Amino acid sequence: MSKAPHRTQVGIVGAGPAGLFLAHLLHRHGIESVILESRTREDVEGTIRAGVLEQWTVDLMEDLGLGERMAREAHFHRGITLRFAGESHHLDFEDLTGGKRVTVYPQHEVLKDLIAARLAQCGEIQFGVRDVALHDLTSEQPRLTYTTGEGEPAELRCDFLVGCDGSQGTARRHIEGRTEYGHLYPFGWLGILVEAPRSHHELIYARHERGFALLSTRSPEIQRLYIQCGPTDDPADYPDELIWSELHRRLETVDGWTLTEGRIFQKGVIGMRSFVCDRMQHGRLFIAGDAAHIVPPTGAKGLNLAVADAVYLSRGLECFYRTGQAGELERYTDTCLRRIWKAERFSWYMTTLLHTNPAESDFEHRIRLADLDYVVHSQAAATALAENYVGLPLD
Ligand code: FAD
Ligand code: DHB
Repeated sequence: MSKAPHRTQVGIVGAGPAGLFLAHLLHRHGIESVILESRTREDVEGTIRAGVLEQWTVDLMEDLGLGERMAREAHFHRGITLRFAGESHHLDFEDLTGGKRVTVYPQHEVLKDLIAARLAQCGEIQFGVRDVALHDLTSEQPRLTYTTGEGEPAELRCDFLVGCDGSQGTARRHIEGRTEYGHLYPFGWLGILVEAPRSHHELIYARHERGFALLSTRSPEIQRLYIQCGPTDDPADYPDELIWSELHRRLETVDGWTLTEGRIFQKGVIGMRSFVCDRMQHGRLFIAGDAAHIVPPTGAKGLNLAVADAVYLSRGLECFYRTGQAGELERYTDTCLRRIWKAERFSWYMTTLLHTNPAESDFEHRIRLADLDYVVHSQAAATALAENYVGLPLD
């Protein structure tokens, strides 16, 4: 038997950072929403992904009243360390950007805070739904049909639909007339989680002839590390000893610094691509976050970019409900794309700067080293990297 259709103002597909931030931002403006999520709450809250928040994302969480646990448990760093050509250089972002910091607070912790707070507001998030389908997108009453977690067919009638369904989602396919731009990288990251104390007080990004390596953290007891690998490598082909030997060689390029080992309890390979969809609206459907754009992880932009879309869309919807004018909503794609292309550029830049590419000539390799040398010795170049890393201001 199907449930009676129910109604909300904004129907959101996907309880990732884009969907959850959007629901909170709309709630602040008194706009109702319902989120439909295909995974279980445990799965959403347990998937390890991003680690770094831009300064304005941190400020937004505080502004939304969601910053309490982050203030206690996040790691706030002044900057990052870059290692290459046997040298180590610290970039002090706090000095370079007038006080902005690097905040390491994992995506799944952000999601836990957003979900708990949304449920405490009696906001509706339906987990474990299936067969979500989008209908009547160019009418004033678009609909979502789906199967609930309990297996019942259901319908949600809305004023607007938002596809926040990530890179594998289907909402994007409804955007007519779109052009998609993409770039594949000939490498990936093998990411591990390790039970070990911290080896360094900040993140270390290393360019080494054997490939990129990154030292990050999750908590005083758990560390997150990555090494460059093949794009489709199988983590099973990387025994622990091989991973540690690569990490030691790529990161320990400076006398006296050693990496602390520990028990590896999770391994995974991430492919890398850049992708932009040049339209983010069709009728009353909007798309936000990874549904519309992907960046390679170097430089930690993906989550933050998803949140920026949610901010711009919430502004357009707030304006529409307050004034009846759709102008700001109509400008949503253009407003987002200006930020998206800058984040795409920065992520591509950080990726090509720090990875060794089998197809790269000796000439290109030396150009990358010269670029790194420039970044660590020029205040202007360091400032440009710093302001992108901590997050460009929102328009
Ligand atoms: P998602 O987080 O993918 O959320 C989409 C949601 O929609 C999912 O929960 C999915 O289950 C749901 N969904 C999909 N299809 C359907 C459907 N049909 N019906 C219902 N629900 C559906 N970014 C950073 O900013 N900083 C970092 O440090 C960083 N590090 C990263 C490290 C790794 C290893 C990876 C993989 C990514 C990293 N990113 C980072 C990127 C970041 O994780 C993503 O950009 C971010 O999750 C995008 O958020 P989103 O809400 O758009 O999509
Ligand atoms: C992490 C991921 C990134 O992509 C990055 O640039 C820095 C840190 C992380 O997962 O901690």
